[in-house]
Amino acid sequence: MPKLLEVRDLRVEFTTPDGAVVAVNDLDFSLNAGETLGIVGESGSGKSQTAFAIMGLLARNGHASGSVCFEDQEILALPEPALNKIRAEQIAMIFQDPMTSLNPYMKIGPQLMEVLILHKGMSRQQAVEQSAQMLDAVQIPDARQRMGMFPHELSGGMRQRVMIAMALLCRPKLLIADEPTTALDVTVQAQIMALLNELKREFNTATILITHDLGVVAGSCDRVLVMYAGSTMEAGSVDDIFYRPSHPYTEGLLKAIPRLDADGEVLPTIDGNPPNLLKLPPGCPFQDRCHRVQDICRRQTPPLTAFGKERRRACHWNSLKGHRENAARNGEQP
Ligand SMILES: Nc1ncnc2c1ncn2[C@@H]1O[C@H](COP(=O)(O)OP(=O)(O)OP(=O)(O)O)[C@@H](O)[C@H]1O
Ligand SMILES: [Mg+2]
Repeated sequence: MPKLLEVRDLRVEFTTPDGAVVAVNDLDFSLNAGETLGIVGESGSGKSQTAFAIMGLLARNGHASGSVCFEDQEILALPEPALNKIRAEQIAMIFQDPMTSLNPYMKIGPQLMEVLILHKGMSRQQAVEQSAQMLDAVQIPDARQRMGMFPHELSGGMRQRVMIAMALLCRPKLLIADEPTTALDVTVQAQIMALLNELKREFNTATILITHDLGVVAGSCDRVLVMYAGSTMEAGSVDDIFYRPSHPYTEGLLKAIPRLDADGEVLPTIDGNPPNLLKLPPGCPFQDRCHRVQDICRRQTPPLTAFGKERRRACHWNSLKGHRENAARNGEQP
């Protein structure tokens, strides 16, 4: 089956007065229709810049290279008008803070209707009907009445629902949700995630879910990509990542998920901070925080190697461990 989205060797580089910052480093992943990929990593790991590169929305000092192929079209090479059309009709994005995407001076209804009139050529009446239906679908009560309200008259959770409605109005094939629930309290977070999962099934939308919280991806994603300092640390199915993590960074992220059965225990964190992208050390970017660090990790960047069933990892320690285990199984001297 042809892939909906195929990202190859994606690199995002920013020019700054202090030098070049490589925010995304040779990223590879693909997505089938209806599938959900989680991109996970701490702050600054390059998650949002990956999304912005796919959407053609990088800051002026940023440059994307490599390949982003959406339905056989090379997005990185598209002229602005063609890109605008794809952005409006095929790929939609939900941002962390809905107020950055909603116009504060415009009532909700006209903001939704504008999208349909402009991109789907609907009449005013059709647009009113469709907008109200979509607000119903995202479970906003009294949808028609809310259409006459300004964004500030709605709660944070309601505004995020309006954003989701707006993103899904044109029935995009790909939805990129960048930390869609981070600004919300825990109960509303759970409701919004449940809603996203339901809508994804209903509309068969492929989704990239960006989050710093591995807990969020558990119930929502088919596959997970773990990023650190712009690079892939490991990638695999959600079960592999959760039950058989193959990178010390993933292990650290997993330990940091709060557990209901560990009442009162102090939550382990990964000591230290992500490296300064302007002064990346040679070798593995995670070396200074890794409890498994070896000499080789400080000298050589671990290559991203495929193993198992559609899994990839960039870790010297785990690769060496794999070799040792194979050798032992074959009766060889490790
Ligand atoms: N315009 C810019 N110029 C220089 N560096 C930038 C620019 N925009 C982003 N960066 C850098 O790119 C890196 C990756 O940023 P990105 O926004 O992708 O992080 P993130 O993983 O989304 O983090 P968060 O979880 O905080 O949203 C960061 O180190 C950031 O400082
Ligand atoms: Mg971000």
